[in-house]
Amino acid sequence: MDASNIKTVLIIGSGTMGQQIGFLCALHGCTVHMYDISDEALNTAKVRLERLAEWFKNHNVKNTKNALSRIYYFTEPEKAAHRVDFVSESVPEDPQLKAKVFAQFNTLCPEHAIFTTNTSSLVPSQIAKETGRPDRFLAFHFHDVRTTKIVDVMPHPHTSQEAIQVTIAFAKKLGQIPIVLKKENHGYVFNTMLMTLLSSALTLAANEVADIYDIDRSFMGVMGTPIGPFGIMDSIGLDTVYKVTKYWADLLHDAQGKKNAAFLQSYIDKGLLGTKNGKGFYSYPHPEFFEPEFLQ
Ligand SMILES: NC(=O)c1ccc[n+]([C@@H]2O[C@H](COP(=O)([O-])OP(=O)(O)OC[C@H]3O[C@@H](n4cnc5c(N)ncnc54)[C@H](O)[C@@H]3O)[C@@H](O)[C@H]2O)c1
Repeated sequence: MDASNIKTVLIIGSGTMGQQIGFLCALHGCTVHMYDISDEALNTAKVRLERLAEWFKNHNVKNTKNALSRIYYFTEPEKAAHRVDFVSESVPEDPQLKAKVFAQFNTLCPEHAIFTTNTSSLVPSQIAKETGRPDRFLAFHFHDVRTTKIVDVMPHPHTSQEAIQVTIAFAKKLGQIPIVLKKENHGYVFNTMLMTLLSSALTLAANEVADIYDIDRSFMGVMGTPIGPFGIMDSIGLDTVYKVTKYWADLLHDAQGKKNAAFLQSYIDKGLLGTKNGKGFYSYPHPEFFEPEFLQ
């Protein structure tokens, strides 16, 4: 198999990342099967995909309407899995859930299909066996497709060379820049650096050293970036940042990590999840850090 044989892509999980990856695949000519567990989730995805297409159109990307017409929506796994060549999974960051979902789709998808996970913090060997096709399983990890073309390609020790090469070629076909990891690493390349930044920002806020606006101002003002660590957390989703923070805090018995997770939980309890529902540390679509006065 080579990347030109990838005609139909199954996206498992139609949330923030499933929408973005699905749209990118459709934009580059693939038929996309968007699978989720409820019609409600798919209806939300449809609305957000239209917004995403509009965003690309406003940034001079052509054929965004055609891309939307190549996306089909399913709640029935059998139909979603029909004749797919490549699978990208973006369900919540829970190794047991991911393992269960892959095991289910292994029985439904064609034998040749390559399975990839978009996990942020896990490594593929944690669930490779459960996928039922460890040689055709690896991590293929996207960032926000509106702001970067960097993707991580991370095999586990038993991923076949063919699956790795096809995934690298597919990344290029999607117009992305693949960063190929030589070994498994929780957090890939960029995220390893990013998590240290986010964790430091959370520690400063949870320990009441400075407020979140000043922490972001400090970073943005020195580095000259358009967004600070708390703005970045909003774009990731506070629930996702919470899961990663809590997972590592529990695993490493890290008291500060647990305090940081509790700090995030206090926002989540108020329904503040970030850009995905319009309110997190900031309010969207016009967050305070977009205003010129923010840094004055
Ligand atoms: N948000 C980010 O910035 C980001 C970036 C890179 C990677 N990731 C990773 O991508 C994955 C998804 O994150 P997200 O932010 O898109 O999450 P999300 O919460 O926005 O979306 C998850 C979707 O999965 C669906 N789902 C739940 N159980 C399911 C099942 N059994 N079968 C099919 N669908 C199911 C939910 O209904 C929801 O629509 C996570 O592993 C996360 O770590 C997230």
